[in-house]
Amino acid sequence: MTTTDPVATTVSKLARGLDDGLIPPALFGDADVHAAELRRVFARSWLFLGLTDEVKEIGDYVLRRMGEDEVIMSRGADGEIHVLLNKCRHRGTIVCRDDQGNSSHFRCPYHGWTYASDGSWTGAPKRPRAYRDLDPKQWGLLEARVEKRWGLVFACLDPSTPSFDDYAGDALWYLEAFFGLDSRGLVSLGEPNRWSASTNWKSGAENFGGDNYHVATAHASAVEIGVIPDPRDGNETNAQFIAGPGHAFTATAAFAPAYGLGPFGHSPEVWANFDQAHVDDSHLELHKTHYLFTGTFFPNFSVFRFLGAPTATGLIPIYLMLRVWQPDGPHKTEVWNWLCCYYAEPEEHRDGIYAAGLAILGPAGLLEQDDMAIWEGSTVAGRSVMAETLDMRFNYQLGLGNMSVGGVVDTLAGPGQAHDKSYNESNQRAFMQHWLTMMETEINP
Ligand code: FES
Ligand SMILES: [Fe+2]
Repeated sequence: MTTTDPVATTVSKLARGLDDGLIPPALFGDADVHAAELRRVFARSWLFLGLTDEVKEIGDYVLRRMGEDEVIMSRGADGEIHVLLNKCRHRGTIVCRDDQGNSSHFRCPYHGWTYASDGSWTGAPKRPRAYRDLDPKQWGLLEARVEKRWGLVFACLDPSTPSFDDYAGDALWYLEAFFGLDSRGLVSLGEPNRWSASTNWKSGAENFGGDNYHVATAHASAVEIGVIPDPRDGNETNAQFIAGPGHAFTATAAFAPAYGLGPFGHSPEVWANFDQAHVDDSHLELHKTHYLFTGTFFPNFSVFRFLGAPTATGLIPIYLMLRVWQPDGPHKTEVWNWLCCYYAEPEEHRDGIYAAGLAILGPAGLLEQDDMAIWEGSTVAGRSVMAETLDMRFNYQLGLGNMSVGGVVDTLAGPGQAHDKSYNESNQRAFMQHWLTMMETEINP
């Protein structure tokens, strides 16, 4: 009897078809592929966990996920942020069950092993009798590597993964352009919203990495009722950037005329609040025209700077949304959604900005409903017997060869590779290429 390795089969199909824009559906629905990508992709990537503001005080903690492992992001007595595997070192019991809180210690409910908020082992019941020879230094909670940038927290499980800067590559320039525009970083406008979607995590990640082409069709109802301006002309003026291994961004100049926005997407009064001397000139070049953007930092952290319709007071709400496409098995994604703005935004604007972000891209947001319903399809196809039997491929050929209008340009600020129109799935192909590279790279024993 011969056996077939579904992971090797899918990876090989992707390797053979990617240059021609042919993607096997199993990427979006096969359980074995998903189990492998948790180890090969998620365990070796720098993952976004939250904002430093969420654990402002010593002892503050929140629960987050890395791949499908639950971790505690806590601020220890040393003032540093620690990311700790939420599993007791004795026999694996969950040591922290509240989503958030403040505590100097985490005490395991099974036998009482106790850990400080920096993860160090501090004791157990009857320790002098029960654990005379136990070395506390060896038995603290397992801890991930942590990197803090722009008020954001990233973590990585694998000690052999390159530094955050090397992992980010050219994406660092774009992240700095977006998040570093205000030297004080970002203000979170509330706790992250969360909801569950019946789709593989890659659908959201690849879409936010640069899929302007879908907007006019998938979100036609929002255009018809005037919630967002007609995006069709934007296809001609959008820019797409491939920036480092798997990271991709897109930016648009399309909506500025519709709302009469000036450079940087802010009114002159708000722009005056920014520490403009701090901003790099090359970043300003991009912001002058392309200040509305989306992007995905590989694998599952997306950003979106977008605007809502003018409010009764004339405010055009510009919000920054941070999003994690949290895998929950191969067929489900838990979407985590932080709505933020720059510190430069006056206090009296912030409620309006939060409401605008929630209305468009919150759990019941207008655009969100469209996307979630649509993305289910690729996941269903990813576990379809008929699709597998008839060897179906998805078509990612937009922008390949002579297929589409537009191409690589060197007229835009920023490193990496830029394309000047939206008739292009190069960002998605770059995402898939890096996923493929990671899946083909053996795991160190
Ligand atoms: S499993 Fe945690 S103390 Fe025993
Ligand atoms: Fe969408």
